[in-house]
Amino acid sequence: MSEARFVGVTGAASGIGRELALQFCAQGLPVVGLDIDQAGLGSLEKECGGRFRGVGCDLADKVALKERLEQLRVERGVPSIWINNAGIAHIKGMTEITEAELEQTMQINFFALVTCVRFWLEHMVPTGSGSIVNIGSIAGHISSPGLSAYVASKFAVTGFTESLQTELDLNKSPVKLLLVSPGFVETKIMRVGEQNGFPKEFLFLATKVGDCARRIIEGIAAGEREIFPTANGKAMMAMQRLSPKLARGFSKLTVGKKVDLGKKT
Ligand SMILES: NC(=O)c1ccc[n+]([C@@H]2O[C@H](COP(=O)([O-])OP(=O)(O)OC[C@H]3O[C@@H](n4cnc5c(N)ncnc54)[C@H](O)[C@@H]3O)[C@@H](O)[C@H]2O)c1
Repeated sequence: MSEARFVGVTGAASGIGRELALQFCAQGLPVVGLDIDQAGLGSLEKECGGRFRGVGCDLADKVALKERLEQLRVERGVPSIWINNAGIAHIKGMTEITEAELEQTMQINFFALVTCVRFWLEHMVPTGSGSIVNIGSIAGHISSPGLSAYVASKFAVTGFTESLQTELDLNKSPVKLLLVSPGFVETKIMRVGEQNGFPKEFLFLATKVGDCARRIIEGIAAGEREIFPTANGKAMMAMQRLSPKLARGFSKLTVGKKVDLGKKT
């Protein structure tokens, strides 16, 4: 049955999720990571020794996800911290992106996150404690051309998380719900941006993945409701508050890949 409570991370095989897993393991906590990338999970298991366990799962498959969560609950009990981190981005114009890519983006970035929140909330409440952490994005606060599906999924994460935070407050829930909104971070998702015209002269702005994960872990420990773990993201939020037009101009410069609006895939 349940051993010491563990940390769960979706999308643990690379990027921010991988760093979170490494840093929690280094603190001596047992970590379980869900990811579609079995090879990435395997290499993390080797690196972390017995502290990390990888569970292969395609988050786009709701039935499989629910099965994995229930299996985990039976085998390991309820986590003390669950981090919904997995995410994908397609940088494409609205007539270029396929319907399957649109749906996949919403499924992984939003609906899988909702499935995990609902599942663990139900099981954490009776334990009297626990933190659920949703990784959104600055793209969940500021719009961006060529990223409409991603932005829609991240605005959904922001709205969902903020509403549920208020619901938990109102009902004096013992479970904490945290929203993390990173800006540019040096990971595979950023490389999708680079391949699609993210200007090289702005690359210095991207935060190192280790620093981003460290800031997230500090924020979780402090029980912060909203965490902005990158300096570039904080600057973009300040720009948005000062002038939404200026923020739109900046996102045209950085993510503004020119697309052929007449082209259909
Ligand atoms: N890197 C950035 O600049 C940035 C900025 C803002 C927000 N974010 C968010 O941070 C989170 C982590 O992104 P990252 O930058 O580390 O990206 P990443 O591509 O390095 O990692 C994403 C992980 O999610 C996993 N994943 C993708 N599809 C999956 C599926 N169907 N089932 C299970 N796992 C799947 C991948 O295998 C990968 O391990 C995402 O939610 C992303 O939107 C990243």
